[in-house]
Amino acid sequence: MSVTRLTTLDLREMKQKNEKISMITAYDYPTAELIDEAGAETILVGDSLGMVVLGYPDTLSVSLDEMIHHGKAVVRGSKRAFVIIDMPFLTYQINSEEALRNAGRTIQETGGQGVKLEGGVEISEAVRKITQSGIPVVGHLGLTPQSAGQLGGFKVQGRDIKAARKMIDDALVIEEAGAFMLVLECVPWQLAQLITQKLSIPVIGIGAGKYCDGQVLVYHDVMGLYTGKRPKFVKQYAEARREMLRGVNNYMDEVRNISFPGEEHIFSMPAEALDALRDN
Ligand code: KIV
Repeated sequence: MSVTRLTTLDLREMKQKNEKISMITAYDYPTAELIDEAGAETILVGDSLGMVVLGYPDTLSVSLDEMIHHGKAVVRGSKRAFVIIDMPFLTYQINSEEALRNAGRTIQETGGQGVKLEGGVEISEAVRKITQSGIPVVGHLGLTPQSAGQLGGFKVQGRDIKAARKMIDDALVIEEAGAFMLVLECVPWQLAQLITQKLSIPVIGIGAGKYCDGQVLVYHDVMGLYTGKRPKFVKQYAEARREMLRGVNNYMDEVRNISFPGEEHIFSMPAEALDALRDN
């Protein structure tokens, strides 16, 4: 049976019907396959790739080529989910023409369905230009890791009136510029609720409380695969690393004590062929 991909219209309809949208990150083929099979509506190829997969200290080092490389694998691994690919640092901030060129490359080369950009009014022209070309755009406000240096670190955003007002204004500007979805990261739940009510596009939260239209988490955090610092908003649903380590240790034990490979894993050759070889 052929499966069709969800569209921006399906996701908007989910908001209208009050149905929660689930989003989880993926960076490779088997993970995308698994998440798609589980039925997540959206998969994010986040630039968290840099930290959880590539071993960089932050997201700033991730290149467009790396995002495209991993984005392609995720698109190949999924059939139904709407795949969103993060645009890395400095691929959309310089000017809107460059932003469109890079967004176009991302969609053309990966086959993904949308791109995500971090920031408010300062990137609204890029959002407008990319959407006008027909590429679906997701905004990202609150704690935006690409500007963590400027924000003074990985802190809750929008706690005081001025910052909260600015976030509401930014959200409205990003929606007006054409974004079809917005991610809110690490903001007080009351502010996230207010923004979710004010916007007609779906708002997906991470550390933004339960009143958003959906939730996103990083796959490696969900599965217990990341050994770095875990933010307060993360909930771990599995102990995959422990299980994987157990598997690798068992394999190594069996290699050392020669219980692997067993009879069932080996190939044999006819006795005559072996005799002939030995005679020579
Ligand atoms: O890069 C990423 O994984 C993200 C999510 C945390 C929203 O942007």
